[in-house]
Amino acid sequence: MAKLKLGILISGRGSNMAALIEAARDPGYPAEIACVVSNVASAAGVATARGAEIATTVIPHKDFADRESFDRAVSAELERHGVGLVAFAGFMRIQSPWFPQHWAGRALNIHPSLLPAFPGLKVQQQAIDAGVRVSGCTVHFVTPELDSGPIIAQAAVPVLAGDTADSLAARILRQEHRLYPLVVRWFAEGRVLLKDGRAEVSGVPTTLLFSPEP
Ligand code: GRF
Repeated sequence: MAKLKLGILISGRGSNMAALIEAARDPGYPAEIACVVSNVASAAGVATARGAEIATTVIPHKDFADRESFDRAVSAELERHGVGLVAFAGFMRIQSPWFPQHWAGRALNIHPSLLPAFPGLKVQQQAIDAGVRVSGCTVHFVTPELDSGPIIAQAAVPVLAGDTADSLAARILRQEHRLYPLVVRWFAEGRVLLKDGRAEVSGVPTTLLFSPEP
């Protein structure tokens, strides 16, 4: 069966992208990485993607007069590679409504909190300041409102006494690297659908309580 072609959007470190690249190395994985697009030329993830011999394009947002023309250029690049699913992986560009509408039901994002708690930035500090005992990560469909699209799956991690934003971020990130490849696999298997504004997931557990780590 033909594999799902995944396009990954990054702006920085690219560790989630690397986890997806790694997952796709397994011949049995139902998706392949068709391309990586970054709006930042110096992003560490760009070098990682090129090192992995993935088609990688830099499209600097500063080259465009407005958000929508940038979004259309990114979209054209994804389409040129025949992308069937877009994975936002630390892509730090707020979009025009055009992109999520154009890719409705075919664009995912990963966020390092249990949404709808703590959208936006500095989310681990937000979690610590709020005193929550459990945080985690969320994979959701991308919609025009930032970090608020229909939730597909979540992985929970404990917030420990003495945690800093960095230690909590590292614990969550390890689960992101498990959750994102899993959800992309489910999408490729046809288990994940956007229907009437909600994510429908069939045949797999969407609450992941990964084993506690030190
Ligand atoms: C991750 O924590 C992701 O959830 C958030 O941005 C961070 C990106 O990290 N959207 P990386 O670039 O994948 O390492």
